[in-house]
Amino acid sequence: MIRVEGLSKTFSDGFKALVDVDLSIQRGEIFALLGPNGAGKTTLISVICGLVNASRGRVLVDGHDNVDDYRAARELIGLVPQELTNEAFTTVWDTVSFSRGLFGKPQDPAHIEKVLRSLTLWEKRDSRLLELSGGMKRRVLIAKALSHEPQVLFLDEPTAGVDVELRREMWEVVRSLRDQGVTIILTTHYIEEAEEMADRIGVIRRGEIVLVENTHALMRKLGSKELTLHLQEPLEAVPESLAGHGLELANEGHALVYSYDAARQEGGSSISGLLADLEAVGLRVKDLHTRQSSLEDIFVSLVQERA
Ligand SMILES: Nc1ncnc2c1ncn2[C@@H]1O[C@H](COP(=O)(O)OP(=O)(O)OP(=O)(O)O)[C@@H](O)[C@H]1O
Ligand SMILES: [Mg+2]
Repeated sequence: MIRVEGLSKTFSDGFKALVDVDLSIQRGEIFALLGPNGAGKTTLISVICGLVNASRGRVLVDGHDNVDDYRAARELIGLVPQELTNEAFTTVWDTVSFSRGLFGKPQDPAHIEKVLRSLTLWEKRDSRLLELSGGMKRRVLIAKALSHEPQVLFLDEPTAGVDVELRREMWEVVRSLRDQGVTIILTTHYIEEAEEMADRIGVIRRGEIVLVENTHALMRKLGSKELTLHLQEPLEAVPESLAGHGLELANEGHALVYSYDAARQEGGSSISGLLADLEAVGLRVKDLHTRQSSLEDIFVSLVQERA
């Protein structure tokens, strides 16, 4: 649906906000772009949407070059911007209908109604934007972006500053859009959001895409696991014969923590080895639990690693 090739953006002050970015977004997927403040997420979206000119490279939207064939490319795209820029005195209905008109599409009250209902804004259709809560204003932005029936929807930090309940509600909205066949690209700081929502995740750092991976594969590949063994009797030190397992003593000697790589575990048998060795030393285990690192841990380690 979207193809980005060798894209670079250097601002007039010489700042390189995007460096040789290649990216392909499949039709119908939810793609999350994850990166720290200033990484280039908004810049990348702005270039794809044709709001900012690229210094090098090109963008194809469903095969349409977004410079040579701007109108065709832009028509396919809906953009929910990061910043709230609403016309305070306009009503919900008018602002959403007007957005559709900007794309030269004929009026279609039935479509606008459908969009407003899907975002639970129907009751508020005659309210002026200044009368809405922050979360409602954000939904108006989504309604505007959907007014001209785009095939791709960009959501730049859709849930920044949004409470937990509304965030879940937004996720539902995004999922239902995807179910209707809309391709979704969202940026987020909330790793939990990427993990929960995205089919694939791209990590951007200092204008470079450092990783693009299927969400589950990413979790599997980079997710380390931890096995904590709670002991019947506390230990003073890790027994000599267990040294090879890289165990750490925790909870004042009442627990042993074993870290392992979930992927590597599949081939080897180090857990069985560990359990056998524990048996051999005569250590009695009271309880055990495992913990898989979250995407957050992965993200932090990835960003630090390359710093
Ligand atoms: N018009 C501009 N002129 C010069 N530098 C700019 C301009 N717009 C953005 N930048 C710089 O480009 C970098 C990337 O900005 P961008 O807004 O794309 O980051 P972001 O990943 O969206 O960050 P955030 O998570 O804070 O929204 C930043 O260092 C920013 O200061
Ligand atoms: Mg941004």
